Amino acid sequence: MTSFVGRRRELAEARRLLSAARVVTLTGVGGVGKTRLAMRLADEVRRAFPAGVWLVDLTAVETPELLVHAVGEALEIQDRSARPALQVLVENLRGKQALLLLDNCEHVISECAELADRLVRHLPDLRILATSRQTLGIAGEQVLHVPTLPSDEAVQLFAERAQTVLRGFTLTGADRRSVELICARLDGIPLAIELASARLRVLSPAQVLERLDDRFGLLTTGSRTALPRRQTLREMIGWSHALCTKQEQLLWARASVFADGIELEAAEEVCSGDGISPEEVIDVVTGLVDKSILIREEHAHRVRYRLLETIKQYGRERLRELGQEEELRRRHRDWFHRLVARAEPEWFGPGQAEWFALLRVEQGNIRVALDFCVTERHEARSGLSMAAALCYYWIATSSLREGRRWLDLLLSLDTAPTAVRAKALIVDARLAILQSDFASAGPVLRDGRALAGRLDDARTLAMSMHVEGLGALIDQDLPRAVILLGTSCKRYEHLGDRMSAAISQMYLATAQSYLGDHDQAAALFDDCVAVCDAHGELWFKSYALCVSGIAAWRVGDASGAHALQLESIRLKRPFNDRLGLAMCVEVMAWITAEQGENERAARLLGAVANLWKSIGGPLFGYLTDHHARCEEAVRRALPARTFDDAVHKGAGLSLAALIELALREDAAAPEAAEPSPLTRREAEIAELVARGMSNKEIAAALVIAQRTAEAHVEHILAKLGFKSRAQIAVWMSERSRAQRPISVHDRTDPPVATA
Ligand SMILES: Nc1ncnc2c1ncn2[C@@H]1O[C@H](COP(=O)(O)OP(=O)(O)OP(=O)(O)O)[C@@H](O)[C@H]1O
Ligand SMILES: [Mg+2]
Repeated sequence: MTSFVGRRRELAEARRLLSAARVVTLTGVGGVGKTRLAMRLADEVRRAFPAGVWLVDLTAVETPELLVHAVGEALEIQDRSARPALQVLVENLRGKQALLLLDNCEHVISECAELADRLVRHLPDLRILATSRQTLGIAGEQVLHVPTLPSDEAVQLFAERAQTVLRGFTLTGADRRSVELICARLDGIPLAIELASARLRVLSPAQVLERLDDRFGLLTTGSRTALPRRQTLREMIGWSHALCTKQEQLLWARASVFADGIELEAAEEVCSGDGISPEEVIDVVTGLVDKSILIREEHAHRVRYRLLETIKQYGRERLRELGQEEELRRRHRDWFHRLVARAEPEWFGPGQAEWFALLRVEQGNIRVALDFCVTERHEARSGLSMAAALCYYWIATSSLREGRRWLDLLLSLDTAPTAVRAKALIVDARLAILQSDFASAGPVLRDGRALAGRLDDARTLAMSMHVEGLGALIDQDLPRAVILLGTSCKRYEHLGDRMSAAISQMYLATAQSYLGDHDQAAALFDDCVAVCDAHGELWFKSYALCVSGIAAWRVGDASGAHALQLESIRLKRPFNDRLGLAMCVEVMAWITAEQGENERAARLLGAVANLWKSIGGPLFGYLTDHHARCEEAVRRALPARTFDDAVHKGAGLSLAALIELALREDAAAPEAAEPSPLTRREAEIAELVARGMSNKEIAAALVIAQRTAEAHVEHILAKLGFKSRAQIAVWMSERSRAQRPISVHDRTDPPVATA
């Protein structure tokens, strides 16, 4: 987290452009501060965009085809339909006054240009702010060339960074002159200045200047003016590189294969060997952090290291020169393959919320790893295994479309009749079925089942029955669903896989309840919840509670059904699960209508319709009838005006307000903000925890004792019923997301300043 310096003129100019043009692009050489300026601007203009300011960091997007997915994800769109991603984007943004910040477009410049062009054509209320080394070159684009810092701002930046290296550093007499000259040598490029200031750990400003003169003098043979800015930064980076130890240089180069961040463990495994032992990595990382090459960050309470774009590119070039690029990309892939393989069996366990948070943080790296499997020969099988192991991740994060994309691509690349392929086919079919894309799912499922049969792969065969049964259930062929799900259940049991059996069982119970076999269904539901409890599992349990609530309601137990929905909604908190929420709210609407609270029911119906729309899904087949009947009854019971008003009100609720409305027993004042179980101080601290700050950092930021901070965090955990800080982070982000759709995460601004 570093301070922001100067740029008043550019900020004013950019604001002016943004008020007049639909697309504004900040251009300039690497490291000049485009990203930082854009973030600052976004922060300043937030209020003008009621539908939010959304940051899309494109540095981690190495595959152009994933651009649209990355944007959708940044917008937190949880669309589960099979529609094209661009169409979904447009529909979600329609009529919304939002600002989209596309950061570091140069990677995927032509795709960015095309996307920006299409978006602004379709969406008159949308504005786009882009940062890029080149302009997008589209109609209506306004360009602001970001200049280097003027002398006084450059000196201020140097001094501020110097103070973090040397406490008590001040600009006095001779030092001031040296610093001014250093900044001039470095053309006022912020990144170059930051790198130079890091040298104060060992050199005085005068010495830094002397060495810069030597280095740049050599390069330009005395004529400073001949040195283009791009070259200045390169030279500065080159100098930083030359001053690194051999091991630091190696690690820098190797770390460049990571998409957007590296955890220490990953660095120890992927970047060690041949010159650095795993035990040495931590010291080497420390050295690189000291030199401002690696930037330390915390996400979801995990420390990560990141390379700024220009620095990463420099490292990548060195890696290529060393001839280690392919090897490192493979090792990177291997690491994430192992991570994903570990997550798969542990997903249904007490670590679920943590896995969920971790996989989300590592998404950029996972994509790069999958991309390696797609682009390198003979690697597709490993990719298939990864993409299939991520099955529940794709489902829980509503990334059905992206999951299918990887699976389809990899399945077409590796057609060998292996067990991995059989499983990948079934997972692919499962994702398609969840999108109600039965036409695509059918043949894929058949191929998968046939292959699993030939290979005598009992587990995948059980899975294929499960998926086919799920398809039958969603498609409302209940008798068939019962047979298939019953068989898959038995097969899973036979294989000792209790958790998968419980999942099949939940669908089986749903089908049986619809066929009128209530006792049997209730017993199966209970059993299923018991298995989740035994595993310490929450996500799936929340679904089990919801559907068992539907069954309870169908046999006339409205209060039991209601209680089950409430519990289900509470369990969903760490997962930001809109599909699950939609299902719960749906059921609550039916119950409310039945109890004669028609206005409240109409409001819930309006809200849920909106929610379904945001997920892009029609209701699952077996829910649609109830929905239609409920809506009709409520409409009949209320005057047309009242009904429409209530539906309209419901549709306008934020996610938080909706949860509030659903969780409350009485129907009054749905617009009120969701009451938080936390006190104001606790909420403030939870916010800092969510930003990844340690107790010590929180104590420093709020000027309280560390022990007090610790006690607060303990209280927060106890109140929310959580075990880890990561869960607090997920919960907070869900709340803030629900309350105001603003999502600019300036990585570097101090948290208290923006709070
Ligand atoms: N006005 C500023 N105040 C403080 N720090 C700044 C400022 N401008 C840039 N920096 C710092 O300089 C470094 C480079 O800035 P930034 O990443 O924004 O450059 P960029 O132009 O986006 O580079 P690239 O082309 O590589 O993406 C960062 O560490 C950033 O925090
Ligand atoms: Mg940038």
